[in-house]
Amino acid sequence: MGLSLSLIISILLNPYKRSVKATLLQENEEKVVVEDSFPPRSNPDNEEKKGSGKKPSQTSSDILESWVIKLEQSVNIFLTDSVIKVLDTLYHDRDYARFFVLETIARVPYFAFMSVLHMYESFGWWRRADYLKVHFAESWNEMHHLLIMEELGGNAWWFDRFLAQHIAIAYYIMTVLMYAVSPRMAYHFSECVESHAFSTYDKFIKAEGEELKKLPAPEVAVKYYTGGDLYLFDEFQTSRAPHSRRPKIENLYDVFLNIRDDEAEHCKTMRACQMHGSLRSPHSDDAFEEEPGCAVSQADCEGIVDCIKKSMTD
Ligand SMILES: [Fe+2]
Ligand SMILES: [Fe+2]
Repeated sequence: MGLSLSLIISILLNPYKRSVKATLLQENEEKVVVEDSFPPRSNPDNEEKKGSGKKPSQTSSDILESWVIKLEQSVNIFLTDSVIKVLDTLYHDRDYARFFVLETIARVPYFAFMSVLHMYESFGWWRRADYLKVHFAESWNEMHHLLIMEELGGNAWWFDRFLAQHIAIAYYIMTVLMYAVSPRMAYHFSECVESHAFSTYDKFIKAEGEELKKLPAPEVAVKYYTGGDLYLFDEFQTSRAPHSRRPKIENLYDVFLNIRDDEAEHCKTMRACQMHGSLRSPHSDDAFEEEPGCAVSQADCEGIVDCIKKSMTD
């Protein structure tokens, strides 16, 4: 995924309009759209003014926050793009090995988010069960992608395992630190990684689709996507109602199509995590309500400094 200078400039000028769209190959299939942009948090006063039809005014803190978001996004895009270039060079002709490396790395941020959230919870600093549930379900989904790649032989060479595992350790440490300092930045970084995963699988099934249709699906994929209990499969897809996506797995093409669509769902969930107060488990009662009604709004966590500050003032 190359990032041109003009793209960096356009992101810096307006990061909220960047979007990646993908068309599907199968007819009668729901269109998957990945949007990897998010607006800055609205000032509550401005939200009120929007509702009353008055033009919202930007305070100096809004402007500062907007620039911080631009900086965070630019750093994330630079970092992901650099790693992707290295992986593209190493794995340009070995698809399953590349997918194995990607999937080993892909699970890491969800472990990192959960580690930090567990620490906050243990110290009584911040508690939100929905975040833990959703992130675990995301790591469960990525683990099954990894198992599929292993069944396809992607981990056969020691060097690929060595590289993937060592990148994973470095990525874990980086994500824990980033998430503690700025959850918004860490979620955006993960969104960039998921967006890359989506486009990687999208290109692969477009290039190899006919061949993949002739090959059998790995057993682990059939069990995961069509097995009895799909609670965790529904849980990570926070923009969908439970039971709304039930894949059919008849061949290897179906497997890669659904892995790609999973990546799109991860993108949407990571995007939701960057919106304040908007992440709900799809199984929670108020998950898809326009107006939360009597739901008590819970305070957002803005990182470890915010947590310590709140614990001292409470
Ligand atoms: Fe994945
Ligand atoms: Fe992923």
